[in-house]
Amino acid sequence: MERKDDAPILGIESSCDETAAAVLAPDGRILAERVLSQIADHAAFGGVVPEIAARAHLSALDTMVKDALREAGVGFLDLAAIAATAGPGLIGGLLVGTGYAKGAALAAGVPYLAINHLEAHALTARLPSVGQVEFPYLLLLLSGGHSQCVAVEGVGRYRLLGATLDDAVGEAFDKTAKLLGLPYPGGPALEALAREGDAKAVKLPRPLLGREGCDFSFSGLKTAIAQLLAAEPPGALPRQHAADIAASFQASVTDILGDRLSHALAMLPGAKAVIVAGGVAANLAIRARLGEVAGRAGKTLIAPPLRLCTDNAVMVAWAGIERLRLGKTSALDAPCKPRWPLEAL
Ligand code: KG4
Ligand code: ZN
Repeated sequence: MERKDDAPILGIESSCDETAAAVLAPDGRILAERVLSQIADHAAFGGVVPEIAARAHLSALDTMVKDALREAGVGFLDLAAIAATAGPGLIGGLLVGTGYAKGAALAAGVPYLAINHLEAHALTARLPSVGQVEFPYLLLLLSGGHSQCVAVEGVGRYRLLGATLDDAVGEAFDKTAKLLGLPYPGGPALEALAREGDAKAVKLPRPLLGREGCDFSFSGLKTAIAQLLAAEPPGALPRQHAADIAASFQASVTDILGDRLSHALAMLPGAKAVIVAGGVAANLAIRARLGEVAGRAGKTLIAPPLRLCTDNAVMVAWAGIERLRLGKTSALDAPCKPRWPLEAL
């Protein structure tokens, strides 16, 4: 069947706790986007429960895709291709998203694209509405599952400059927030509480600060806070004390990230820009520090709008467009890969 040059692409994301679908024109214009967060389904457990996530994706995805297609004014047969996150992530959700995408691609007779979730975050900076950033650039991916510093040299060409040795930065926020009795997900709640606190009130470690390279480590910070709290008298923590701990924790993370970015910049002097992505990029103190560090090196910090920083399907569709342009489509028997590092692309 002949397809029009302006045939749009459908993207599907289901690797963690967001079910999302988006339809993009081939030039990257967003025609429709849908995201459904499962936060409420998992809140009672203090973290994402894989089986609950998979079932929630299964019940939501079909409606979300059809709503997105309707809003874009197209049907499956009008599409140029269908892209879905195939990893890394939780296997149940990945199977739901890729199974749906493969079935629809087969039925509509269009190519299927198995997208690496990290690549999708990495290429968001090239969306026309974000910055059309040229290669090479530096990506700081700061989410609940990942903390990585990546040299993005082309589609499918990624060099890992550093990564966390233990917890992801969002995980450190979530665990610290839990220790302080804040609701899940802890990042936004901790940032809000930190505004009332004194960042110098509590002395906390800054693991790896000044060390060669740009690896991260956050678990020592969490342990320090756990020990601090264990020494407190029993009973509720006074609010001001909790706020001081939150502010001191955030200051420590901010110092670590700023220091790591300055090292990463030295490792990729030709970077055209610095991009920050992932839920932690929402944190204003962190954003401000990364902006200062990038500015001192003569680089611009680009932070995509929050809805494109956190998990979404626009980035999956866009990565699909970039791959389709290069003829890099996937076979219908392409597997899901719960572990799928960027360097393996
Ligand atoms: O990228 P994301 O939405 O999901 C994945 O992990 O893939 O990131 C979620 C993480 C959570 O750990 C959450 O606590 C953290 O981002 N986060 C924040 C803030 N908003 C979200 N951390 C610090 N400050 C924030 N304002
Ligand atoms: Zn993500």
